[in-house]
Amino acid sequence: MKIFLDSADLDEITALRDTGFVDGVTTNPSLIAKSGHNILDRIAEICAIVDGPVSAEVTATDYDTMLAEGRKLAAIAPNVAVKVPLTKAGLQTCRTLSDAGTKVNVTLCFTAGQALLAAKAGATFISPFVGRLDDIGKDGMGLIEEICTLYANYDCPTEVLVASVRSTQHVVDAALMGADVVTLPPKILTALYHHPLTDSGLDAFLKDWAKTGQSIL
Ligand code: E4P
Repeated sequence: MKIFLDSADLDEITALRDTGFVDGVTTNPSLIAKSGHNILDRIAEICAIVDGPVSAEVTATDYDTMLAEGRKLAAIAPNVAVKVPLTKAGLQTCRTLSDAGTKVNVTLCFTAGQALLAAKAGATFISPFVGRLDDIGKDGMGLIEEICTLYANYDCPTEVLVASVRSTQHVVDAALMGADVVTLPPKILTALYHHPLTDSGLDAFLKDWAKTGQSIL
């Protein structure tokens, strides 16, 4: 399963990219706003330091403007994936961009029916938002299971990109269900390699080692 970083913060992206775990980046208008930077500049900066797909989201809601924005974003770098919302205009934009060879990430997906339409529109990625479903008392990971089954039934090439991830358990569950990608806020990626028993075990080993007076180097 690929891991994308859900961030528009260049320092965060650089630090975590250096771990070797980051296969791509996703942004959205809220993350760009939080960064305080111009979207075109920030996407170019991220694309320059990350080899994998970098999702950049359109902000128009009508087809013509969405398409123009998508083309402008796609022209920034070959690894840009244009992110469009799961609306009628978004799906039409997805079809046009995808036919032209542009990677498209269809975002704000909350039902398997929506995911089916995104696949038919040629989406490279479908982004179901699990955390936001959990927030309203629905089963976010249940949706991932449905979409994975549905896509597998038809050998559908659209990749399931689990978004709005709130916990390391979401990540493990996504992998168990066979999702293609998870996009993680930096704190969840960091939490994946932390365990208190790892820390206390390492402390004990190092204390015992110090008593030997040995050195490997
Ligand atoms: C990523 O593509 C999504 O925009 C992001 O995961 C949404 O996360 P949130 O629900 O925590 O804002």
